[in-house]
Amino acid sequence: TVLVVDFGAQYAQLIARRVREAGIYSEIVPHTVSAAEIAAREPAAVILSGGPASVNEPGAPAFDVEAFALGIPVLGICYGFQCMTTSLGGEVARTGKREYGSTHMDIARGGTLLDDQPHAQTVWMSHGDSVTRAPEGFEVLASTRDVPIVAFEDRERRLAGVQWHPEVKHSPYGQEVLKNFLYNIAGITPDWTSENVIAQQVERIRAQIGDKKVICGLSGGVDSAVAAALVHKAVGDQLTCVFVDHGLLRADERRQVEQDYVASTGVRLVTVDAADRFLGQLAGLTDPEAKRKAIGHEFIRTFEQAAADLVAEAASEDGEPIRFLVQGTLYPDVVESGGGTGTANIKSHHNVGGLPEDIEFELVEPLRTLFKDEVRAIGRELGLPEVIVGRQPFPGPGLGIRIIGEVTAERLEILRRADRIAREELSRAGLDEEIWQCPVVLLADVRSVGVQGDGRTYGHPIVLRPVSSEDAMTADWTRVPYDVLSHISNRITNEVDEVNRVVLDITSKPPGTIEWE
Ligand code: XMP
Repeated sequence: TVLVVDFGAQYAQLIARRVREAGIYSEIVPHTVSAAEIAAREPAAVILSGGPASVNEPGAPAFDVEAFALGIPVLGICYGFQCMTTSLGGEVARTGKREYGSTHMDIARGGTLLDDQPHAQTVWMSHGDSVTRAPEGFEVLASTRDVPIVAFEDRERRLAGVQWHPEVKHSPYGQEVLKNFLYNIAGITPDWTSENVIAQQVERIRAQIGDKKVICGLSGGVDSAVAAALVHKAVGDQLTCVFVDHGLLRADERRQVEQDYVASTGVRLVTVDAADRFLGQLAGLTDPEAKRKAIGHEFIRTFEQAAADLVAEAASEDGEPIRFLVQGTLYPDVVESGGGTGTANIKSHHNVGGLPEDIEFELVEPLRTLFKDEVRAIGRELGLPEVIVGRQPFPGPGLGIRIIGEVTAERLEILRRADRIAREELSRAGLDEEIWQCPVVLLADVRSVGVQGDGRTYGHPIVLRPVSSEDAMTADWTRVPYDVLSHISNRITNEVDEVNRVVLDITSKPPGTIEWE
């Protein structure tokens, strides 16, 4: 394991992913972790992330100095580079030379860290402070026009650092820097492959579930599909999949799950009609967190009942209650819900923060340590068809968090019709690859005046939110060609009576999240 120490930036998850892409398992830990805690976990290496603070400020996020003396290889990135510097007796100062964005760098000596790299290259910087004196024992490797020390290493102690961000794609040789550190400085042999993950998880699932029965909520998305397939591989027919039709699904989704998924896996599937229950719980709610929590609670309740029904059915067999529930929770869900890193709670993801306190199931979460692209790779390795594995993400609370205002059956129908048109046209234009996902949002409490035919209209706006992303942690709005947008707008305003305006969301994440609620 490589531990990525989080100094409060968006970058820690990206670093953790890049380490996985280099074939090595990684986990994120808060910067408050002590040297003893690190030592206890016996990591193969530690990487210190960037962060927004300044190391010289009082109260700046610190890292236990003693961790540098454990003999564990450490790579510092940006803030982590500066933190390493001051911790080991070097100097960091506000020199007045700030660097942001693509910056030209010259490598004086490649050392091990920058071995085999072009000596003049572009790297992605984001810093106000700079290292002005390297700690003793370190060799300075590279500089920029304004900053003489932007990379160093101490081969003997296996410590190294870079001022720029090797984890972002704007640093073209960044992944090579990480690999040099992981393979050549830390001496780690990569063994994190889909095959190994499957083998490990199957073993873990068997140990947890034993010969007991288990149910899995299937949403139609990649995550629950892969989670169920993994559990099916581990315990076979002890698994029953339950598909809750919460009435917040998109057009056609139910049929796809009942046909595509079952045909490809042979998993046993029970569908529960729960639209009325969910709409009942959502009545009168407009606050996004209240809606999310209501949906989350109702999900679990519905499963409990489905499980009880299944038990009643199987009563002639052994009558034993179903204790286990599979969920397709991913690592970013865990991190964003504040699990494990102390990061701020941004949204209560329905499968993490929204669980009732008196939950009756023990959760089985085989994807809890995985990133989305890893889940897809595992799905492919398990033989799931591309229509499922390649599917764009759709939130568990469904259309419930894409109606701004109260959720009602009529409003759902409006949104469903608009959403279907947007999806059809984006697919027809061949944009499914480029677009990570495109929420279609109904501003149900907003009306605007329009004119159609001979008459005045007073309808609702629909928002298109096409985004490009690698992991949903950050995203940019997709530059969908104007003629495609125009076509979507024409069709929606013509075909969906209640909608007389279509608008485009051109906000990146951050500051906007992908979903509107
Ligand atoms: P945000 O809106 O936080 O969304 O930028 C990031 C990604 O997560 C999806 N999302 C959810 N997925 N349960 C889920 O399974 C949820 O409660 C949930 N909320 C958001 C969202 O569609 C995007 O891909």
